[in-house]
Amino acid sequence: MAPEERVIAPAARADEAEFERSLRPRTLADFPGQERVKENLAIAIEAARRRGEPLDHLLFYGPPGLGKTTLANIVAAELGVSIRTTSGPAIERPGDLAAILTSLKEHDVLFIDEIHRLSRAVEEILYPAMEDFALDLVIGRGPGARSVRLAMPRFTLIGATTRYAMVSAPLRDRFGAVFRLDFYDVPTLVTIVRRSARILGVELPPEAAEEIARRSRGTPRVANRLLRRVRDYAEVRAGGRITLEATRAALALLEVDELGLDETDRALLRCLVEKFEGGPVGLETLAAATSEEADTIMDVYEPFLLQLGFLQRTPRGRVATPAAYRHLGLTVPAAARQPALWPDEE
Ligand SMILES: Nc1ncnc2c1ncn2[C@@H]1O[C@H](COP(=O)(O)OP(=O)(O)OP(=O)(O)O)[C@@H](O)[C@H]1O
Ligand SMILES: [Mg+2]
Repeated sequence: MAPEERVIAPAARADEAEFERSLRPRTLADFPGQERVKENLAIAIEAARRRGEPLDHLLFYGPPGLGKTTLANIVAAELGVSIRTTSGPAIERPGDLAAILTSLKEHDVLFIDEIHRLSRAVEEILYPAMEDFALDLVIGRGPGARSVRLAMPRFTLIGATTRYAMVSAPLRDRFGAVFRLDFYDVPTLVTIVRRSARILGVELPPEAAEEIARRSRGTPRVANRLLRRVRDYAEVRAGGRITLEATRAALALLEVDELGLDETDRALLRCLVEKFEGGPVGLETLAAATSEEADTIMDVYEPFLLQLGFLQRTPRGRVATPAAYRHLGLTVPAAARQPALWPDEE
C-alpha cells in the first residue's frame, strides 16, 4: 500500500483512480521533469515516424508514482497509435498473451505493467514476438505435437516495473531502450502541483505549492494527493482558501513531516534504530518487526529513505545512518559510525 493510500477509505479508491487519470499529462510537452528521458523518447519517436517503422520496445523502471504509466500513454499518443494495457499478473497463461498479441494492429503499443511478474511460460511467448514479430504456437500434444510460427503485427512493447532487478536478463536484453525514472526535484514538483491546481480549478498560492512540493517525497502522485487533501482541509476548515497555514495544518493532520515522511517511514526508522541498534538487519526481519510487507517496504518506503540518505543497503542488511537518528531527534550513538558505502543490491 502506498503511504498516502492509508488516508483514503477503500470506497474512495475508484474516485482516486479517476482523479489520477484527470491529471495525467497527455503529451511530452505537457509532462514536466525527466528531461533526459523525454529527449530520448522524442528522438526515438520522431525517427520511428520518419522511417514508418514501429518504435523500439521500451522499458521504464523506477519507484511508484513517477510517471511510468503516464509516459507509456504519452508515447502511444505521440505515435498516433492505440495502446493496449495489461499487467504481468493479469496474463496467466501463454494463450492469454497470444490472444492479446494477435489482436494488436500494426504499430500499436502493448503496455505491460509490473512486467517483472510475468511467468516464465508467458515470457517465452514474448521473446519471438519482440524479436521477429512472430508467435510460436504448439499444436497438439505428446509425440504428435508440432510447433508453428505465425506472423503477427509489428508492434511496440512498453514494459514498466518498480523492480528492475527482477526482470529476467533475456527479457531485459530484448528492449531497445531502458529508462530509469528518478525522483523529481522541488521546482519540478511545484510546476506539477500548480498545473494540477489549474486543472482542478483551485487557487494555489506559490508558497503553498512550494510547501506541498517539498513534502511530496519527490513523487508527482504524492504531490497530487497532498494537493487534494489540502484542498479538502481548506474547504472544511479554512473558508475554502488554500493558504500556507492551511497547507501546513492539513499536512500536520496527515502526519506528513517536513521532509514528506509519514508515520510508516518514521516507524521503520525507529524500529531499525531502537530494536536493532541501527542495523544491519535483513529486510524480512524488518518487515516482521514493523508488520509491513517486505515488498511494500522495498518498493514504496525504501527508495525515498535511501535517496534521503537515511538508510543504506549493505550485504548484511539495512543500516540506519546518523542522519536518520538526527531526523528522529535522537542522539547519534558512538557505535553508529557511518558504515562503508556498499553498492546497491539491485
Ligand atoms: N511528470 C509528471 N507531471 C505531472 N504529473 C505526473 C508526472 N508524473 C506522474 N504524474 C502523475 O502522477 C500520477 C501517477 O503517475 P503514473 O501512474 O504514471 O506513475 P507510475 O510510475 O506508473 O506508478 P506505478 O509504479 O504505481 O504504476 C498520475 O496521476 C500522473 O498524472
Ligand atoms: Mg503505473
